[in-house]
Amino acid sequence: MFQPDLLKGRSILITGGGTGLGRAMAMRLAELGANIFLVARREAPLEAVAAEIRSQGRHAAWATADVRDFEAVERAVERGWSEFGSLDSLVNNAAGNFLARTERLSPHAFAAVLGIVLQGSFHCTLALGRRWIDADHPGRVLNILTTYASSGSPYVVPSASAKAGVLAMTRSLAVEWARYRIRLNAIAPGPFPTEGAWSRLVPSAEAEQAWLAQHPMRRFGRHEELADLAAFLLSDHAEYINGECVTIDGGLSACGSGGFSHLVGAPAEFWEALERERRRS
Ligand code: HXC
Ligand code: NAP
Repeated sequence: MFQPDLLKGRSILITGGGTGLGRAMAMRLAELGANIFLVARREAPLEAVAAEIRSQGRHAAWATADVRDFEAVERAVERGWSEFGSLDSLVNNAAGNFLARTERLSPHAFAAVLGIVLQGSFHCTLALGRRWIDADHPGRVLNILTTYASSGSPYVVPSASAKAGVLAMTRSLAVEWARYRIRLNAIAPGPFPTEGAWSRLVPSAEAEQAWLAQHPMRRFGRHEELADLAAFLLSDHAEYINGECVTIDGGLSACGSGGFSHLVGAPAEFWEALERERRRS
């Protein structure tokens, strides 16, 4: 689908790039020619992904930082900028989440998720945005949200609140910074199996099966499907896409939005009886 040099010469910072979807995006963007700078808290996953990218003849480096700490983000961005001469894209992918009844949450639990998702995305966007504006350098930001950023969702209230904030930030800055040739977009993924998400949000095989059973395509997302969407949105082919949020969930969120999704599983006899009734009247 893409030219192999689609992202040649580009340098992309990915937060949370050592695991899950961040890793998948890092590998794919590198395959398409980009230099990759990975940022997260744990060294080992970052080094493993960077080594894998280098073993394929591409460039990758990393720095540890907790995105909740603006000074640490500044240091990491500085490292990435000098490593590759500049950075031209940011993927805000780092996140924290867990399933919990909201009335049992401590304020610290809420703050932990808000800090990683909303403040963390703001910290990285601010650190790079200031550099882009000062250097008159174009920039691209891709924020990884979830479908419930716009709908809300029970039992993940800190995450839903934070992701909704990042969606508002995406749209707001897309307007404010367009004059600086900085564009911001978002992806809203549905379920994509990763160790990080599944260990916190899918408590049992039965819960996974119940989720699948309500999915119109009866399957979860594949990592490469999300990585290819990210590659497109970061590429110059998407230059006129700004302030947009693209859902990638196989129709799962659309499923609840009409009143008749429950009829998807209705047997043929149901429709035939309806048809007979219509002809009689
Ligand atoms: C209630 C919880 C909790 C839980 C932690 N806390 N887990 N409360 N239920 N399951 C509380 C703690 O008790 C503590 O509050 C506060 O949260 C902070 O916890 P710490 O462990 O000290 O924080 P920290 O080490 O910073 O860890 C952050 C974290 C952790 C968010 C809690 O899960 C993490 O590091 N996650 C990173 C990866 C991740 O979450 N990936 C999933 C992304 S999937 P007190 O008051 O006790 O001090 C996703 C979307 C999926 O985002 C959508 C699917 C469709
Ligand atoms: P994941 O593997 O747990 O990824 C989260 C990453 O964020 C980890 O690499 C983690 O690395 C990093 N991180 C967490 N807290 C951080 C902090 N304070 N500072 C810096 N980095 C931090 O989960 P995932 O499923 O791939 O999720 C990736 C993104 O997709 C998230 O934005 C998530 O909300 C979104 N998403 C996922 C799904 C899904 O079904 N998987 C669905 C919708 C949206 P460290 O622990 O080393 O810091």
